[in-house]
Amino acid sequence: MQFIPPDYFRKLEKPEVFPRQPRPLEIDLGCGDGSFPAAMAGHYPERDFLGIERLLGRARKAYRKACKADLENLKILRLEISYALDWLLPDSCASRIHLLFPDPWPKKKHHKRRLVTHDFCAAIRRVLEPGGEFLFKTDDEEYFEESMGVLVNEDSLQQLPWEEDAFFYPQTDFERRWLGQGKPIQSARFKAID
Ligand SMILES: C[S@@+](CC[C@H](N)C(=O)[O-])C[C@H]1O[C@@H](n2cnc3c(N)ncnc32)[C@H](O)[C@@H]1O
Repeated sequence: MQFIPPDYFRKLEKPEVFPRQPRPLEIDLGCGDGSFPAAMAGHYPERDFLGIERLLGRARKAYRKACKADLENLKILRLEISYALDWLLPDSCASRIHLLFPDPWPKKKHHKRRLVTHDFCAAIRRVLEPGGEFLFKTDDEEYFEESMGVLVNEDSLQQLPWEEDAFFYPQTDFERRWLGQGKPIQSARFKAID
């Protein structure tokens, strides 16, 4: 389904996103074609998933995937990630937030467009439940190093081990592309602490 906020000028209540509560909510930031949240929603029918994507074509693709597979627990919000994190999503609403293969903006003059900053970390901490998790993957080693420099210095986030096959975690559309080209993937997992 698509998710259209009833009001863009206030924070939402969790049941406005998914009426059936209480249920864990996972948020996929920049969900692309929706492959990842669709696979997750199929695997975990007892959890809800919100994919956020700003590009119309990709958001539509993700929405169609959710409809085709009849996934009532997956909704797609077409919006800027920062607007959703800063102004719309309720406090402590999410059990997990995924940031998978975000645009790396490799040119130096574009680095300011990169997502992982101190303000971004403060926003995900607000949206995560205490003990909730932030999961991050990228194929871009330089972006990974820069992001880790920010993430490990956040007092409200604690790094956790993330062994392959620790839990069900399907490959994303971009992950399959990069693996197909033989690129190594970097990943990191953090817990929200007080
Ligand atoms: C490289 S793709 C990865 C897509 C998906 N996560 C995957 O791994 O297949 C990055 C996605 O994030 C979206 N995106 C980047 N910045 C965004 C922003 N500020 N707000 C919403 N979506 C964003 C892009 O449009 C794109 O679909």
